Amino acid sequence: MMAPPSSVPDSAQTRAGESNLDATRLQEILEIARHTPGPRVVLTGAGISAESGIPTFRGAEGYWQVGSRNYQPSELATLRAFTEMPAEIWAWYLYRRAVCRAALPNDGHRALAELEATLGDRFLLITQNVDGLHLRAGNSQDRTYQIHGNLDFTRCSAGCHIGVDPLPDELSAWRKDQALDAASRELLHCPHCGAWLRPHVLWFDECYDEVRYRFESSLSAAESCGILLIVGTSGATNLPMQVAARVAERGAPLIVVDPEPSPFTDMAEASPAGCFAQGLAGEWVPQICAELANKPVNPS
Ligand code: APR
Repeated sequence: MMAPPSSVPDSAQTRAGESNLDATRLQEILEIARHTPGPRVVLTGAGISAESGIPTFRGAEGYWQVGSRNYQPSELATLRAFTEMPAEIWAWYLYRRAVCRAALPNDGHRALAELEATLGDRFLLITQNVDGLHLRAGNSQDRTYQIHGNLDFTRCSAGCHIGVDPLPDELSAWRKDQALDAASRELLHCPHCGAWLRPHVLWFDECYDEVRYRFESSLSAAESCGILLIVGTSGATNLPMQVAARVAERGAPLIVVDPEPSPFTDMAEASPAGCFAQGLAGEWVPQICAELANKPVNPS
């Protein structure tokens, strides 16, 4: 077993199991990235927000009770469920959103905001997270592709107009067992056509698109990036897998941060310029971002 980088606290190893990463290997990859033109692209999943106290999507705390039945998030986060029981689905989302609003960005989020502040147009963030924490940490809306949407916004479920609106402030605090009353129902109906508003999120039975979810832009980032850093995602969704696979095929630098192995770690370890930094986002991401910020690359 190779030694981890000396600047990584021992706790990362004890919490996450022994790191399989050779410090020299990480430096080699960062050095290759330094000479690889193209934006520095970061792809995040629920794992980066775990240290802010937001349960990961596929963790144990995900289920939700409606009536006498327990549902998994993958059953609830669907157009089908919303069509059948909009008020119950809204209650679930309002509670999830209240949990996200109560959470604060952590060191990993802050490091990515600082990296964007340093790199400007040479930085791009693709996130699956709907918690809004990257934007609250300071990443810009323009350079953050929220490929699964953002719980802070709603849109008309009938699609009577294009665009999204902020969720009304009155719905910000929401208890786990709270049902919609008449006033909240009214706030959750489209002021233009009267249809239900819906959370601005991509559901499991829906497809990615460019206008709302930056599908083509994300693939294009995979074609041109000088490095891809993947943080805290299990590889269960389609677009992130396509992005990572394209970067691996190109042989571009690819670093994966996660306490657990995943299909992304397999891709990184099979790639000529990839590695798996096993451990917590809050410990690895600030260190890697500092390296990316300190080592200016050739202009893209
Ligand atoms: N630091 C880094 N990674 C972590 C941490 C941490 N502190 N804690 C957990 N992880 C890792 C887990 O090991 C796992 O690989 O984060 C990942 C979380 O996986 P999921 O819960 O499946 O979340 P994610 O991959 O983001 O899910 C993707 O699926 O259902 C959809 O839209 C939903 O955006 C979500 C998407």
